[in-house]
Amino acid sequence: MSSEVRLFIDGAEFRVPAGISVAAALRHAGYEATRRAFDASPRAAFCGMGVCFECRVRIDGSERLGCLERVTDDMDIRCDA
Ligand code: FES
Repeated sequence: MSSEVRLFIDGAEFRVPAGISVAAALRHAGYEATRRAFDASPRAAFCGMGVCFECRVRIDGSERLGCLERVTDDMDIRCDA
């Protein structure tokens, strides 16, 4: 079993440790925000447990909470940030 997972964030390829959350993978890849608020301010994972909804991203075409999803090979993650 590989200790890394290959995934795509906004079309760019990254390799991240297996077993981490999507929110952690975004930080690992250098993303400090997952989306923008209505006033264009950056928003990012805050609670890490599915309460604040600040980590919303599109994963393989569906909106999900990045803190509750584990990375998988070839996952396609899209951020609005
Ligand atoms: S970080 Fe709060 S819901 Fe994901």
